[in-house]
Amino acid sequence: MGADLHDIRYVRIGCDDLDTSVRFATDILGLELMERDGNRAYLRGDDRDHNICYTQGRESGQVTGWEVASLDALDEAAKAFEASGVTVRAGTSEERELRRVRGLIVVSDPTGNIIELVARPDACGRRYFPTRDAGILNFSHVGLHTRNPSADEAFWVRNLGGKVSDWIGDAALIRINDVHHNVALFPSTRAGIQHVNFQVESIDDIMRSFYHLQKNNVRIVFGPGRHPTSGARFLYFQGPDDIVYEYSTGVRLITAEDEKTYVPRQFPKAESSFCMWGSVPDIPEFRVPQPNGSAVARAA
Ligand SMILES: [Fe+2]
Repeated sequence: MGADLHDIRYVRIGCDDLDTSVRFATDILGLELMERDGNRAYLRGDDRDHNICYTQGRESGQVTGWEVASLDALDEAAKAFEASGVTVRAGTSEERELRRVRGLIVVSDPTGNIIELVARPDACGRRYFPTRDAGILNFSHVGLHTRNPSADEAFWVRNLGGKVSDWIGDAALIRINDVHHNVALFPSTRAGIQHVNFQVESIDDIMRSFYHLQKNNVRIVFGPGRHPTSGARFLYFQGPDDIVYEYSTGVRLITAEDEKTYVPRQFPKAESSFCMWGSVPDIPEFRVPQPNGSAVARAA
């Protein structure tokens, strides 16, 4: 039995320039800056203490943080990792303090993505209040690069308690709660965060942002479109430090009742599996390679 993850909690992203990343997150993405010093900045789009911690210097790396329900559950998770031969490291008190959590353990997937499990993370008693209203409801999921899709998928399913909701080619869309996917593993040549998703209230927010981003010369890399897998309407755009951000709305929920009959679906590695409206992704991991090395759109 693997860890029992309750929800995604945060990402930590090492950045070339903290000011650039904070400006992008507040003025473009629509997050609220909670706290910053010369080395790190905490931002959020919901009622949690933070969703993103930017750390100065790309070399400080990329990490995803996942909440378990209690300190006991964290202990159980650590024992389960050890029993299955996964190296697990306990977080230091300084690391716990920097993450605003009471409990922290750290593991890596077979690709080398750093995955942190946390217990009793700080909530925030004030409501989320951004300077730009992008209609954000909450931080929702991440895409991760995977060098070994089958091994990483097995790690998420066996060790992290995930369930595959759908596949697109070899990319697994995995849920740890009732949201269609909390993590998606995209075949790639490297480790790291592939995209960071925030849910917004409606398609109007997506379209308002589409024009806002264009006006501010932000590169739109996919959409507006609709995923046939989760049903979500989406917009992907390029942020600093090679991170793609996504707004989406209307993601499918797979409830406890649905679980009884739900079977994951295999979608082909085709661009129509990423967008049912015909938008063509300018994201390498979403493109369909052709024999001559180019990528072309296929009719939806
Ligand atoms: Fe996504």
